[in-house]
Amino acid sequence: MSGFETLERDGLARLGRFETPHGTVSTPALLPVVHPDRERQPIAPNEMRDRLGIGAVITSSYIVWRTPPLRSRAESEGIHGLIGFDGPVMTDSGAFQQHAYGSVEVGPEEILEFQGRIGSDVATVLDLFTEPETDRAEAEAALATTIDRARAARRARSGLLAVPVQGGLHDELRVRSAAEASEIGDVLAVGGVVPLMEQYRFVELARILAAVRPMLSPGSAVHLFGTGHPMTFAFAALFGVDLFDSSAYHKFARRGTLMFPEGSVPIEEIRDPICRCALCAEAPLTEVARRPPPERERRIAFHNLLQSVEEIGRVRRAIRDGALWELAERRATAHPALRAGLAEARARPEVFLPTEPESRRSFREVVAESRERPAVVRFRDRAAAFAAFRPAAGPIPRIALRPEYLRHVPMEDRKGRPLAWAAETPIGPVPLELCDLYPVGPYLGMEEFRTVPRHRSPSSVRALLEPAWGEVADLDRDWSEAWTERQVRALLEWQYGRTVAERLDPAVEGERSRRTGRLRTIRSDGEPLFHVGTDGVPRPTMRGGERLLTVLPPGRERLVVDEDAAPFVSAGRSLFARFVVGADPGLVPDRSVLLVDRADRLLAIGRLLLAPREISRVTRGVAARVTAHRGAAEPPEEETEPEGPSAPE
Ligand code: GUN
Ligand code: ZN
Repeated sequence: MSGFETLERDGLARLGRFETPHGTVSTPALLPVVHPDRERQPIAPNEMRDRLGIGAVITSSYIVWRTPPLRSRAESEGIHGLIGFDGPVMTDSGAFQQHAYGSVEVGPEEILEFQGRIGSDVATVLDLFTEPETDRAEAEAALATTIDRARAARRARSGLLAVPVQGGLHDELRVRSAAEASEIGDVLAVGGVVPLMEQYRFVELARILAAVRPMLSPGSAVHLFGTGHPMTFAFAALFGVDLFDSSAYHKFARRGTLMFPEGSVPIEEIRDPICRCALCAEAPLTEVARRPPPERERRIAFHNLLQSVEEIGRVRRAIRDGALWELAERRATAHPALRAGLAEARARPEVFLPTEPESRRSFREVVAESRERPAVVRFRDRAAAFAAFRPAAGPIPRIALRPEYLRHVPMEDRKGRPLAWAAETPIGPVPLELCDLYPVGPYLGMEEFRTVPRHRSPSSVRALLEPAWGEVADLDRDWSEAWTERQVRALLEWQYGRTVAERLDPAVEGERSRRTGRLRTIRSDGEPLFHVGTDGVPRPTMRGGERLLTVLPPGRERLVVDEDAAPFVSAGRSLFARFVVGADPGLVPDRSVLLVDRADRLLAIGRLLLAPREISRVTRGVAARVTAHRGAAEPPEEETEPEGPSAPE
């Protein structure tokens, strides 16, 4: 099954969706924990939907099962009737009560069967909750039981199944648990972490997520049990968590605590009406503090849920904008424990790199550590390798790559020996030719506003540079054209390697934008082979793709398209993952790739949405969007995913 579809992404984080019998769940999604007893639920689920746009909820099938009046009502009206919600309802199994009370009286088969009987949209396997303190042997035995139960549950249930991932603090067990769950589950639910969240042990949480995430199937939704505080959403989303379940809005309300993405505030400490959310606007918080307990609890719960929903909205927007690291870093400033957790994430670039996009539109430095984001680590390593076999010259201050500036920067000394310049950038020295590329080109940090004035006249730039190269340089020469040539060559080399760049090189020439001075087009015989985006990345045209095919090694830079989909792709339709029969494993999301048929004929140029390792593991959704195409004799009409033999059931 596993019908999760990725629509947009930022690294591991995704905007996605999956279908349930009661409608689509759009992720990232907040699943508020709803008490199955309406008397004990401060906000009715339908009100959550109507006033806060909540699309799906989670409730405990175990509490229903063990409470006779709830149970008989659920058995006659279904879980949707019991809680009063007609959207997707996920049910939990009772493992959390095992954590809270030490044991549960229900068996795994019985609670699974019960979840089916009451019409749960996503049923959860009864896992064994492993505490962080549990030693390896015990955690391993518990995990074996959880896996056996999950396998049995899969055999017994045809509907959507959430499989918990346990293993305590033992990385190998977490890895094994994640791999097993991925074989079975539609929703992969990382569990056993509530004590870590409650104790602000975000470093250990980051370690668990780092161990687990690479193993999880990209075709399933990822759930993190108990991610209740909006402060933690961006952090969890960074690791690709799609579903957040939260009872915190209510738990915090019971003890009179207001949640904000920046942290929590006890209502007694409120002296000013600091929140204007829909409910706080009706009754200022200063007054709410004096209301009778049930009303107070309800109002705070509503406020807390609203704050959580809004933060999910910000996470979604950040994913669309490629700005999730920025948001996570801003949120981490709320608490040192969260900063430590994020530092742990940064220390594990290998977890993020396979799905780090080739480029993003912007890079904002939020804290000094922003310079250690995975994308920066990758760029710095590659730039160092790139510069290693070039003759060195001195560093030059960071300057915009305007032709009128470059005109003054010599490429040779007076004796005709080549000079290689590195620009001093916030992330270290970078070959001058590569300075338009992400993360350097769009980099916005404090330095821009502190040490270097943003706009300089060519003569002032020259005055700035002369001390570095005045003696060696031919100051009267105009170096613009030589720089354009050099930059074109460097970009092609950066993208495709030395050999390919050499073979492409003889005929190509670069063209700069008159307004910005940035390289805009790379041509051959007047025809564009590449368009250079505002992110500095050269992206092939169809003609460029044809040229690349003649010089690239077999398989490189390509997705191979099944014949059933070839006419659609040639006509400009998106390429769906299940029609990809081969992919260059070195590709990353957002890269422009050659879409070819099995005979290696170019059908189109595409922009990758999924990483190659994901493409082979999903059954639904787009692998690459077409940006240029060959054109077809008879354009297919369908815009929807064509049905094929491998269509998901
Ligand atoms: N709710 C909070 N943590 C857990 C967990 O580890 N397993 C299950 N099933 N539910 C939970
Ligand atoms: Zn409020």
